Amino acid sequence: MDYKLLISKAKEAQQNSYSPYSKFKVGACVLTDDGEYFSATNVENASFGGTICAERNALNYAVSKGKRNIVAIAIVSQSGDYTYPCGLCRQSLVEFNPEMKVIVAKSTDDYRVHTASELLPYFFNGGDIK
Ligand code: THU
Repeated sequence: MDYKLLISKAKEAQQNSYSPYSKFKVGACVLTDDGEYFSATNVENASFGGTICAERNALNYAVSKGKRNIVAIAIVSQSGDYTYPCGLCRQSLVEFNPEMKVIVAKSTDDYRVHTASELLPYFFNGGDIK
C-alpha cells in the first residue's frame, strides 16, 4: 500500500478546505480495494452542527461512487501534529471496515498507522441490531 501517495492526495484536498470559522484545514483520502482514491476536505457551516469532517466527506464520496470496500484512509491537517478522527468519524470508519488502515500524517515521511477498530474499541455496528 502506497501510504505516501495516499497522504499526498489528502494534502491536495486539504487545500480546498472550507473552514472560515475554525480556520482548521483538514484533508482525507480513502483507498478502495480496487485501487481507487477518493479525497475530500472538511466543509463547515455557519450553523456549526452542519459541519462535516474531511474523513466522512471522503468516505461518503467513495460510497456514493459505489465503492464500499475501503482499505485505508489518510488524514492530514495544518496542526503540525497527528490529527486523529473525531468520534463520529471513527464510527463511520468502522461501519465500512473495522480493519481499515487509518494513517494519521504530519507529512508524507512522518505518519502513524492504526486500524479503525483500534481507534474505536468495543464499537457498535450493524451486527448489534437484531
Ligand atoms: N475536522 C475534521 O475535518 N477532521 C478531524 O479529524 C477533526 C476535525 C474539522 C471539523 C471542523 O471543520 C474543524 O476540523 C474543526 O473542528
